[in-house]
Amino acid sequence: MTKILVMGVSGSGKTTIGRRLARELACPFIEGDDFHPPKNIEKMKSGQPLDDDDRAPWLDRLYHECLSHSSCVLACSALKESYRRALMQEGGINKVIFLSGDFDKIHQRMSTRDGHFMPTELLQSQFDTLEEPEEAIRIEHHDDIDQVINDILSILSEIHMKRKASDIGLLGLGVMGKSLSLNLSGKGFRLSVYNLPLEGQQNVVDNFCRSHPEGNFFGAVNPEDFVKSIARPRKIILMIKSGQPVDDMIELLSPHIDHDDMIIDAGNSFYKDTVRRAKAAREKGFYFIGTGVSGGEEGALKGPSIMPSGPAFVKTQLAEIFERISAKADGQACTYWFDGDGSGHFIKMVHNGIEYADMQLLSEAYAIARNLGGFTNDETADLFSSWKQSAHNSFLIDISIDILRKRDTNNQHILDQILDVAGHKGTGLWTSREALELGVAVPTISAAMNQRIISAESQIRKSFDSAATPISEAFTSQILVDGLLLARYIALAEGFHLIQRAAGHYGWEIELAMIAQVWRGGCIIRSDMLPFVMQALGESTNHLHLFESQTYQQLIEYYSEALQTLVSICVQDGLPAPALSAAANYLSSMRSPELPINLIQAQRDYFGAHTYRLKEQPDIPQHTNWKKADHGS
Ligand code: 6PG
Repeated sequence: MTKILVMGVSGSGKTTIGRRLARELACPFIEGDDFHPPKNIEKMKSGQPLDDDDRAPWLDRLYHECLSHSSCVLACSALKESYRRALMQEGGINKVIFLSGDFDKIHQRMSTRDGHFMPTELLQSQFDTLEEPEEAIRIEHHDDIDQVINDILSILSEIHMKRKASDIGLLGLGVMGKSLSLNLSGKGFRLSVYNLPLEGQQNVVDNFCRSHPEGNFFGAVNPEDFVKSIARPRKIILMIKSGQPVDDMIELLSPHIDHDDMIIDAGNSFYKDTVRRAKAAREKGFYFIGTGVSGGEEGALKGPSIMPSGPAFVKTQLAEIFERISAKADGQACTYWFDGDGSGHFIKMVHNGIEYADMQLLSEAYAIARNLGGFTNDETADLFSSWKQSAHNSFLIDISIDILRKRDTNNQHILDQILDVAGHKGTGLWTSREALELGVAVPTISAAMNQRIISAESQIRKSFDSAATPISEAFTSQILVDGLLLARYIALAEGFHLIQRAAGHYGWEIELAMIAQVWRGGCIIRSDMLPFVMQALGESTNHLHLFESQTYQQLIEYYSEALQTLVSICVQDGLPAPALSAAANYLSSMRSPELPINLIQAQRDYFGAHTYRLKEQPDIPQHTNWKKADHGS
């Protein structure tokens, strides 16, 4: 963002030059004299000179005017260093052009102009006040305005050109974008940054660059400036809201990008959109790469889990960068280049589905401890802490412990004051919907999504006058820790099953164990369960489901009774535990050699002649006239 001050004594030509320069740079022009408060105008009209106190509110108004534009040119005498400092506060003027000139020349020029006569004393007083700026682009006074403008433009472009091209560009300086930019620059990459100058965000780029001088960021003024400042083939990371904004941004960047440039979408985009965008980009000669990034603000800064996918050429350009900035688990980078255009975003979507399930399961555990076990928040935090030695150890357990303990200034738990209505941004919903479309059941994940939806039905929920759930005799901490652990493993198994099915459907060659590795560090669902999942996945490539692995079968054998008991206690006492129940029912369904679906098939055939198949002859569709009277047809 360039905000230029054109300064000099009266008669130096600052208004004419400033206005022309603003036109050339296609940004607003601000005439300093138009911003004097009425008090100053009165004083000047009466022939009295302004003092520093008079100028303070005027300079403040000018500074705020500059703040409201993403770039601008301001013409203002700003003769003293203190005046310039007032204009150059954070988000204000960042480049000064000083129109210098010799007293006699300016005086003579003013005298020959109609209506511009200036008494010698007045001009002299301006020269006396002038404190020449040290760090400014100095332009000698000239009557040839075109020449002056050309000189200024070529100096500005020289400053621009002198900077070595950036390795990477990052567009979207929200919380995640800022953190990822700092992570990249901390790893030694030169970065160009840009943010659309939307209402209230005009100074985001400037403020970010100023607050991080150590990062040597290049803050671009507009999309063209941004793209041109990056070395080719360009790597442009988008950290913006998913959906239409991504399409709009591609549209905005397209005219400036070249063959083989890469736009990397690091947001939570829907994978089918990513497939569509990647195809369209390839037709136009550039690349669009969907990349799942998990870890929130802290992850983005210190090392996220990164799930990119796309063609081999892009992998050669980007994989190493992602390895450098990603989280590490046991010395291995938590990133892997997946096969297929939308697979990275698909894997991130499923990550979020599991995230929903895990969060729901932990919230059910908290409710069970509180209601059935009679635990206080601090006791529940202690209970969760005691699980940290087991596979339960995870980011979500850690943050839950902090949350359970946190008190406000009145020493009250903040958790107890939070409204029980959950928000969501759609990724959990997509996981459930896509799973259904691909013919995969993910009931624990879907139960978590449903519970967020039910939470929003607060008016209906509150219309019931329900008694508090009594403390259960049957509850033990051991049942909770064991049952919950198996349910958490089941949610992971559902997610992996879905990815495996999608890979088959879309023809992606996905090594499932690599996903577990990528999720081991940096992401929201990182946990000590994942090494066991890796172990299970490593047992055989022929398994269709994690439940078939020895590792899972041992877990099931060991913990399933606890899960069943836990669910039955909840049901008995009327405490909602939809994700625990869904996990338990999914497990028992998947382990049932016989399901009562024969009746459903018969019913379908009864009312719709949909046919059914016999155990003895599964290849031949059968139909029966089921009406009571017609036996044996
Ligand atoms: C991550 C998270 C993140 C997600 C938020 C909010 O991996 O860093 O999954 O991408 O957007 O957790 O999700 P909801 O608002 O849908 O709960």
